[in-house]
Amino acid sequence: MSKSALGLGTNNLEAFWMPFSANRQFKQNPRLLVSAKDMHFKSADGREILDGTAGLWCCNAGHSRPKIVEAVQKQVAELDYAPAFQMGHPKVFELAARLAAMLPSPIDHVFFTNSGSESVDTALKIALAYHRAKGNGTKTKLIGRERGYHGVGFGGISVGGISGNRKTFGNALGGVDHIRHTHDLARNAFTRGEPEYGVEFADDLEKVIALHDASNIAAVIVEPVAGSTGVLIPPKGYLQRLREICTKNDILLIFDEVITGFGRLGTPFAVDYFGVVPDLITTAKGITSGVIPMGAVFASKQIYDAFMTGPENMIELFHGYTYSGHPIACAAALATLDTYEEEGLLTRAAELSDYWADALHALKGLPHVIDIRNLGLIGAIELEPIPGAPTKRAFQAFLDAYEKGVLIRTTGDIIALSPPLIITKGQIEHLFDTLADVLKNLA
Ligand SMILES: Cc1ncc(COP(=O)(O)O)c(C=O)c1O
Repeated sequence: MSKSALGLGTNNLEAFWMPFSANRQFKQNPRLLVSAKDMHFKSADGREILDGTAGLWCCNAGHSRPKIVEAVQKQVAELDYAPAFQMGHPKVFELAARLAAMLPSPIDHVFFTNSGSESVDTALKIALAYHRAKGNGTKTKLIGRERGYHGVGFGGISVGGISGNRKTFGNALGGVDHIRHTHDLARNAFTRGEPEYGVEFADDLEKVIALHDASNIAAVIVEPVAGSTGVLIPPKGYLQRLREICTKNDILLIFDEVITGFGRLGTPFAVDYFGVVPDLITTAKGITSGVIPMGAVFASKQIYDAFMTGPENMIELFHGYTYSGHPIACAAALATLDTYEEEGLLTRAAELSDYWADALHALKGLPHVIDIRNLGLIGAIELEPIPGAPTKRAFQAFLDAYEKGVLIRTTGDIIALSPPLIITKGQIEHLFDTLADVLKNLA
């Protein structure tokens, strides 16, 4: 659709420098969304677009849900802002207590941020300060994983393992090392659920410890299910083994649950799904169902208590954001938790996951499909790249799907799917019928 038909002057698209987007390509042929309700967006050209990605893995309760909308409207008129430092407001305490009650022991404290990237940098800083508070000040190295995505702060890109996010930004943080990713197409292609092979990838951590010594390592951060790199499901037993190695070596384990948190796997958090409890959990996105920016770091009692020493008039952690626990975000989060609870959304993915997996894996055998993987309400279809033109084939699938009224997401040559948790079986069918159509016609 032309820019003038969209009511935009020729140059009106120019000023906005779009994040993680091909600006010039987009501005030639923009894809604008103008409203959203439940499972659908409406595009500027008046089409209903089925949301196969919960926005960016965030709108877990669907769009414009009445309780959340109302809570935000009410809050902005009542208390628009309260200073976050040395002051408080009731909803931030209520929300923290409610979240803490959802988490497995001993995770029982909540530090609020405004995004996943901030949650990650906050967790890394807490890990460093924790060891120092315990008298282990040499424990400063941070260990991430290849293909990990932990947002775009300097901490996040340093422990992250996606080269495109790192290569043009200088040295980033020093003292960081990585373990290998777990993607093993040769052994695990077309696995339903957790792959059988690859628990030994966790032993990379032993190698890194042998190299640097545990006395120098503060924390390991991984996504329980790596999302942005194209959905890598952990091999059976892998996360348990990481936990064992961390415990043995007094290394904090951080799970980045920015996408797996709030029901994506059919349990409130991935920690519940895998039965592995880390020391710190980073979240964002689904905490407000994407309505208002918010993030949170969940910390164990042991970590919080390590800071609660010294004179009581002293600030214990020199860290925080102007908008940590913003009243409107808190109101949105409380109403989101209500919506999740009332509609059983935090466990709904478990009810739908078999149906979802059947529909997804039925795409096996279509042109260019070299792997399909799933867990909870996450799905991925990996395509054979066009020789010499990586990413092009999957991006064409994204454009074609959008034309056909379905929003998918691609990363590299992988199609990633993560619909709102309110999706119906009929909508799942429509999503995969459309995708099958797209894949059959892809060059
Ligand atoms: C695992 C993970 N961590 C961190 C982030 C960064 O979150 P944000 O974009 O809110 O900064 C993301 C975003 O997709 C993510 O998937």
